[in-house]
Amino acid sequence: MSKRRVVYEGKAKILYEGPEPGTLIQYFKDDTTAFDAQKRAVLDGKGVLNNRISEFMMTRLAGVGIPTHFIRRLNMREQLIKKVEIIPLEVVVRNVAAGSLAKRLGIEEGQVLPRPIVEFYYKDDALHDPLVTEEHIAAFGWAGPQEYDDLISLALRVNDFMSGLFAAVGIRLIDFKLEFGRYFEGDAEIPRILLADEISPDSCRLWDFESGEKLDKDRFRRDLGGVTEAYAEVARRLGIIKESGETDNVVSINSGK
Ligand SMILES: Nc1ncnc2c1ncn2[C@@H]1O[C@H](COP(=O)(O)OP(=O)(O)OP(=O)(O)O)[C@@H](O)[C@H]1O
Ligand SMILES: [Mg+2]
Repeated sequence: MSKRRVVYEGKAKILYEGPEPGTLIQYFKDDTTAFDAQKRAVLDGKGVLNNRISEFMMTRLAGVGIPTHFIRRLNMREQLIKKVEIIPLEVVVRNVAAGSLAKRLGIEEGQVLPRPIVEFYYKDDALHDPLVTEEHIAAFGWAGPQEYDDLISLALRVNDFMSGLFAAVGIRLIDFKLEFGRYFEGDAEIPRILLADEISPDSCRLWDFESGEKLDKDRFRRDLGGVTEAYAEVARRLGIIKESGETDNVVSINSGK
């Protein structure tokens, strides 16, 4: 599809060199993995939906003052982004117990947490992205003290905004993962922290408010089926794709642009 130079190929996306220095093109693949990539599948149209959903979220977040890497969507699978130096931490915000937190602390899935909890995981596939504390982050210099505070406050602001956005369309934001990076503007010495990577049903847990139905990657992890259909439902509720029955056909969302 592209003659551009591949900068990085990950499990779900490919980064290409961008048209200008300091930019990259983020290409969303249909590939899906879980459990340290032991489980894999290609889900037809997933990349198209994630490109659109992430565009939507990043744009809305920018609108409330969250700095993001997103510049603009280029086509059905690609978006132009600012190139950042990724902070090697996955920042997870949890509102309701699920997944590893439920398992680790013996809390029943679905229990509302006393307050949103922010967790940090060190980005290292070989180590299975271990949970780390502020001590580890400071000692190993993965983020400076100011950066650490910024990550927490940005993550909580994203949580407040996204919780409301999803609630308005009947979806509970259970938890989600963010990545941030350092953006060196011009020859500024102190980089700005930008929200990077993606926000999509691959990186969030989203439950229907009424039925509790899962509308996220857990459908894949737990073999519930209807993965792409659930992602399309999220896109439809957010008003990203049309209401009609044609939404099962992800190709329909390419029409227009
Ligand atoms: N603005 C950005 N600048 C540079 N790198 C970015 C930016 N946004 C996201 N990335 C990185 O691009 C990659 C996206 O690919 P993908 O999500 O498929 O990776 P992955 O398989 O999850 O692996 P990783 O462990 O590296 O995250 C990730 O490594 C992510 O950290
Ligand atoms: Mg990733």
